[in-house]
Amino acid sequence: MPDMEDTQVGTATRAARPETVFDWVDAEAARREAAGLTRRLRSRTPEDDLLDLASNDYLGLTRHPAVTAAAAEAALRWGGGSTGSRLVTGTTEGHTELERELAEFCGYQAALVFSSGYTANLAVLTALAGPDTLIVSDAHNHASLIDGCRLAKGQVARAAHCDPRSVRAALAARTLPRALVVTDSVFSVDGNAAPLTEHLAAAREFGAALVLDDAHGLGVLGPGGAGAGAASGIAGQPDVVATATLSKSLGAQGGVVLGPERVIRHLVSAARTFIFDTGLNPAAVGAALGALRLLRAEPGRAADALRVARELSTRLAEHGLDTTAPDGAVVSVRADDPEHAVRWAAACRDEGLAVGCFRPPSVPDGVPRLRLTARADLTADQIAFAVGVVVKTR
Ligand SMILES: Cc1ncc(COP(=O)(O)O)c(C=O)c1O
Repeated sequence: MPDMEDTQVGTATRAARPETVFDWVDAEAARREAAGLTRRLRSRTPEDDLLDLASNDYLGLTRHPAVTAAAAEAALRWGGGSTGSRLVTGTTEGHTELERELAEFCGYQAALVFSSGYTANLAVLTALAGPDTLIVSDAHNHASLIDGCRLAKGQVARAAHCDPRSVRAALAARTLPRALVVTDSVFSVDGNAAPLTEHLAAAREFGAALVLDDAHGLGVLGPGGAGAGAASGIAGQPDVVATATLSKSLGAQGGVVLGPERVIRHLVSAARTFIFDTGLNPAAVGAALGALRLLRAEPGRAADALRVARELSTRLAEHGLDTTAPDGAVVSVRADDPEHAVRWAAACRDEGLAVGCFRPPSVPDGVPRLRLTARADLTADQIAFAVGVVVKTR
C-alpha cells in the first residue's frame, strides 16, 4: 500500500528527502572516475614557469602589450560589461570597427560578433535551419555545432568525416526544401582540414549552403591568417557562411559570424543568442581589434604557427609517437587509454610543460590524446624542450 504522503498526486513519482535528490550525481561521478573520465579544475597563477602548449593562444597574442592595452582602454572607456543586448543598449564604435575589419580581413561581405564562438555557432544553426531544412553535419564537428544542430528545428544527417561523397548522398536523399552543410574547417582534435572546396561543390549541386567553423583556421591558414575560407578561395561566396572564435589566434574572447550582408541582417533579427545575450564585452572587443591589427601588420605570424606545428609533429613522429601531420596549429599524440592520457599530461606538467588532455566525450572517435598547441612564438629551444618532455614521459 503506497504511503499517499510520499506519492506525487497524479504520477507514479515517489517524493524523496531533499538531501537525496542529487544522489544520482554521485553515482555518475563514481562511474566517470572508474572510466578515468573525471574532469578536475586546477588553479592557475599569472606567473607560472610552465611552457604552455595547452592553450589555444596560437599566435601568442593574449598577453601582447598592444592587445592588453587595447582591452584596458576599451574597459576604461565603456566599463566592465556591455550592459545588455546590443539591440537594447546599442552598438559601440568598437563593435562596428571589429565587425568591419574582421569581414574585410577574412574576405566576407559582413560580420556580426557574439559573446563566444559557441553562441555564434548556435546562432547560425538555429537561425538558418528551420523545420524546412536538412543539416548535413560532419561526424567530427565541434560540440558547439552539434548543440546547434540539436537546438535547430531542422532535420540532421551525420556525414562521414571529411567525406564529400557522404555529404552528397545525404543531400540527394533529402525531402526538405532547404539544406545546410556544416563542418569545422580545421578539426580541433587532430588538426586535420576539411575538404572545403569539395564540400561547397557538393552543396552547390543540391542548392545547399555551406557553413564552416573557422575557429582553428582564423589566424593560422590563408593569406596572413585570413582563415581557411580565404585559403580555399571560398570566402565571400554568396552561399558560404563562416563562424570563428576570437579566443584562439586573436587572444581575446568572443565569436563572429561572417557571410553575405543579408544573412548577417537576418541574424540580428532571428538569432536568439544575439537577441537575448549581452553584447560582446568591451574589453574583448578591444583585445580582438588590437590582435587583428597586429596580425594585419605582421602577417608572418600565421606561417610561423604552421611551421612550429609541422616541426613538433615531425619530431614527435621521429621518436615513434603516434601523431598525424597537422593542417593547422594543433598537434595530437595518441594515448593508450583515458587514464594513460591523464597520467601522461600530468607527467608533462611535472616536467614543466602544459599540454591538453583529450578524452571522451571530447574526442569523436573515442581515442584519447595529448594535444599540443603550436604557438607561433615558440623558440627552437622551446620546441626541443617540448618534444623531449613528451617523449620522456610517454
Ligand atoms: C571548432 C570550435 N568551434 C567553436 C568553439 C567555441 O568557441 P568559444 O570558445 O569562443 O566559445 C571552439 C572552442 O573551443 C572550437 O574549437
